[in-house]
Amino acid sequence: WGDLRGVIALDGPSGTGKSTVARRLASTLRAGYLDTGAMYRAVTLAVLRAGGDATEIARTARVEMGTDPADPAVSLDGADVAAEIRGPEVTLAVSEVSAVAEVRRILVDQQRAIIASVLAEKGGIVVEGRDIGTTVAPDAELKVYLTASADARAQRRSRQDLAAGRTATVEETLADVQRRDDYDSSRAVSPLRQAEDAVELDTTDLDLPGVLASLLDIVDSRGLRT
Ligand code: DC
Repeated sequence: WGDLRGVIALDGPSGTGKSTVARRLASTLRAGYLDTGAMYRAVTLAVLRAGGDATEIARTARVEMGTDPADPAVSLDGADVAAEIRGPEVTLAVSEVSAVAEVRRILVDQQRAIIASVLAEKGGIVVEGRDIGTTVAPDAELKVYLTASADARAQRRSRQDLAAGRTATVEETLADVQRRDDYDSSRAVSPLRQAEDAVELDTTDLDLPGVLASLLDIVDSRGLRT
């Protein structure tokens, strides 16, 4: 077993450093890790490839998620899609697919099953997304809502894009970040919002070690480290 007892739900908009923070937190605590955004992205890729009804595709696509924070693999029907799901086509279409109620129901069921199996195996998991604290794991031992200014988020996204060999101006990225946040926050089914019992952490002026240190303080103050 690892050093974390229970579920840490990490929610918030894109560009807050959520994925990096979630992976590092899971590694530090020797816990499992689940990137739920990658599941919506994988289903979106399947929809873009096959065309047709998103619900039907979500039901039949075989999305497999690695839960090791050192190697968070994502496969679609047996093939590695970890890089492709971060590309611009998927990023442009993912909000629309993830607003479909039935798609969410199917993926939330899968997410809960993965969480249960990792808890049985390792005792703890860090789950990142938009609706983890509100919908997927409302009984999570710790809920964190990461925020950052729109500018800081666009800067982070641009750096990630550049590192991955994609080019876009900060202005384009800012527009994209805002478009997706508006869409994700205003959809009818489990919109992006902070759970009432979530701790809010603004990462605008914090670097990764700073965010991690804050989170580990909270983990320890709640007695979640075994
Ligand atoms: O975290 P990300 O950027 O990879 O997420 C991709 C999209 O998936 C994002 O625009 C919103 C959606 N999403 C969601 O609706 N619910 C989640 N739990 C995770 C992601």
